[in-house]
Amino acid sequence: MPSSFKDEGFFSHIRRIEKMRDQLNNIKTQAENELSAVTAIQELENLRVKFLGKKGELTSVLRGMGSLSAEERPVIGQLANEVREFLENKIEEAKKRLVNSERNKKLADEVIDVTIPGKRKILGTKHPLSIVIDEITEIFLGMGYEIAEGPEVEKDYYNFEALNIPKNHPARDVQDTFYINENVVLRSQTSPVQIRTMQSKKPPIKIICPGRVYRSDAVDATHSPIFHQIEGLVVDKGVTMGDLVGTLEIFAKGLFGENSKIRLRPHHFPFTEPSAEVDVSCWACGGTGCRVCKNEGWIEILGAGMVHPKVLEECGIDPDVYSGFAFGIGAERTAMGRFNIDDLRLLYENDLRFLRQF
Ligand code: PHE
Repeated sequence: MPSSFKDEGFFSHIRRIEKMRDQLNNIKTQAENELSAVTAIQELENLRVKFLGKKGELTSVLRGMGSLSAEERPVIGQLANEVREFLENKIEEAKKRLVNSERNKKLADEVIDVTIPGKRKILGTKHPLSIVIDEITEIFLGMGYEIAEGPEVEKDYYNFEALNIPKNHPARDVQDTFYINENVVLRSQTSPVQIRTMQSKKPPIKIICPGRVYRSDAVDATHSPIFHQIEGLVVDKGVTMGDLVGTLEIFAKGLFGENSKIRLRPHHFPFTEPSAEVDVSCWACGGTGCRVCKNEGWIEILGAGMVHPKVLEECGIDPDVYSGFAFGIGAERTAMGRFNIDDLRLLYENDLRFLRQF
């Protein structure tokens, strides 16, 4: 006979069993409701802990079993087991439901509609200047030239001095130069790369150097303070003026077509001797005279000459053993001719209506 029977009387005992039964049934209904509303795996886990965990509601009801008699305990025990089993099943069910719906949601999110029209990527085109520079580069690479480079912020020594243009030389005025300080300039030509190349490697030398150059010119239809040149330099034993002319002919025909001709006019550059300005027969009229060539039949596109012995000497190359030729092609001028562009500014304004034409 449990002590409680004596102390509290039979009916209070009955009430206790009933109360536990009610509590268990309550847990069952409450858990069932909450489980059916659950929408996420984490929520489900929280509910499992709440009802079945060590500090959960079911456990706390079972703790009260100590006050029951030996006959009553199995009754409540069985009910408690039923409730636990019921809840475990419900939780398992809910879990399946959630996993399933999560997978379906993922599948729905990842659905690819193959009937939606494609997005077209708008491709840019090469800038006319780049087209011309690339074409020229390609022609010389085909003749076995290598590409050389030099800095745009350059020492006065490389840009002028070593090219036989001492301080106060009138040629400095022709190339109105941007000075950073007394000894440093924005290069006014790509010719300093000649010096850098000859001072860093031994002949045979065969290089071209496409690059940006700067001169303090006001902007107009034919001038810009920044423009591009393609420098060329060949140094070896026995290089002659004939090699220069032959090379420039191949260049002109390669760029402007088989019927192109070139013409050399005597000129002066301090770093070449003899020097020449080189014209190409007009690509618009073929030489008969038209608007493009201003009825000249010829268009000037580059300067050239045989490397001056003083320049070779400055670079430690013996002018009695070696000779060479050099040239500098104006890229803007060539592009304007090639594409019949009558205003240099168009090359720099980046107006899409202009650029799309190439
Ligand atoms: N550097 C000269 C210029 O800018 C062009 C040139 C290059 C002339 C090489 C001769 C040899 O005018």
